[in-house]
Amino acid sequence: MTTRDHDIVLFGATGFTGKLVAEYLARHGGARSVRWAIAGRNEAKLEAVKRDLVAIDPALADLPVLVADGHDQASLDAIVPKTRVVCSTVGPFGVHGRKLAATCARRGTHYCDITGEVPFIRASIDENHDQAVETRARIVHCCGFDSIPSDLGVFILWDHARKLGGSLAWTKGFVGEMSGTASGGTAATMLALVEEATRDPKVRRLLGNPHALDPEVPRGHDRDPFEADVRGVAFDSDIDRWTAPFVMSSINTRIVRRSNALLHYGEPFRYRELMSLPKGPRGFVAACAVTAGMAGFTLSAALPPTRALLARFVLPKAGEGPSKEARDRGHFTLRFVAEGTTGTATPLRVKATVKGTSDPGYGETAKMLGQSCLCLAMDADALEPRYGVLTPASAMGMTLVDRLRREGMTFAVEGD
Ligand SMILES: NC(=O)c1ccc[n+]([C@@H]2O[C@H](COP(=O)([O-])OP(=O)(O)OC[C@H]3O[C@@H](n4cnc5c(N)ncnc54)[C@H](OP(=O)(O)O)[C@@H]3O)[C@@H](O)[C@H]2O)c1
Repeated sequence: MTTRDHDIVLFGATGFTGKLVAEYLARHGGARSVRWAIAGRNEAKLEAVKRDLVAIDPALADLPVLVADGHDQASLDAIVPKTRVVCSTVGPFGVHGRKLAATCARRGTHYCDITGEVPFIRASIDENHDQAVETRARIVHCCGFDSIPSDLGVFILWDHARKLGGSLAWTKGFVGEMSGTASGGTAATMLALVEEATRDPKVRRLLGNPHALDPEVPRGHDRDPFEADVRGVAFDSDIDRWTAPFVMSSINTRIVRRSNALLHYGEPFRYRELMSLPKGPRGFVAACAVTAGMAGFTLSAALPPTRALLARFVLPKAGEGPSKEARDRGHFTLRFVAEGTTGTATPLRVKATVKGTSDPGYGETAKMLGQSCLCLAMDADALEPRYGVLTPASAMGMTLVDRLRREGMTFAVEGD
């Protein structure tokens, strides 16, 4: 790998999120010692992105610009073996991303992305895991808001428990105060996923399986109610707040469970994720509104006429997303509560908080993905020798937590 031309190739640098990641790398001192390049399918758009980057840092006048299309195998074969890491923001990943992930697995190139699409990740596990183990590539999906805060939040709880000689049992993640909006690419991806699920019963079954991303997908019907997807409003006495379904828990829970399957957090380990709202009557009304809003959106996205209306009049278009002011106003807080064992008669009770200080899906996602690709490129000696289709926690664990802490994110544990 040391003989490769680039350390990182950012694929999709012309998109809304890709530009933010490029800007993040351009502003980040840590990337100065890294040989990075931007890539995409449209050379003129890439050159315009490069001009903006040179305005941030004139040293980027030499930044290589590479042209490739996610559907053109020859163009991917020309780029992937020449870099140590590919960082991709080209989505919907299920539509444009399969060849790229497979090429990285085949060519022994580390890979990270910001997909939140369960069917794409399942296909990547089935197609690429064994190959990536053989070529010693780390293929790491979900390095954005879905699912780094959930995945690393549970990881730091486990790290705390194992330092006490213990392990985790049941664990809950609560998405609390949050402000942020969606981009055109995210909207297109959500609509594509609902449309695929409406059309294909196999996709519906996969999406409904709480362990869809485990190494082997269990088929049994004796599913644990604790791990069933949350559908309604309830009061949770562990945090003394009202709770409602959280839109991204359908991906975050699957990633946390895959991390457990790879790292063994506890036996049995169980994870559940919800949105939390204040405890009084206003919290109850807000929880009902969130639940109704999610059900309404899913129904509208599932029916072709309302899906077309959503795409045309309501949701942002490709390349659009929240303004810089809106991104700077954004934030999020996740709280975790877990019980486990310490090897003594007293059960372990432990809490954690994960916080971000800008828009979760864009400001913080650019940071999380930017740090993930830097971590894969620069911290090889600090990472566990684990390869294949991994999760952020199982690929980068505490090394990535430390990087994100240095960038202003909070990862805090309190407990026995
Ligand atoms: N996990 C998270 O927290 C998170 C956060 C944000 C976004 N996302 C996901 O990231 C993805 C991108 O979102 P976005 O809003 O940035 O989308 P976007 O602005 O529409 O950008 C899409 C990018 O993909 C490129 N592209 C499309 N088809 C391609 C192909 N065949 N070959 C090469 N490049 C191709 C586009 O190139 P052109 O410029 O040439 O069209 C563009 O650079 C979505 O799937 C979204 O769900 C996830």
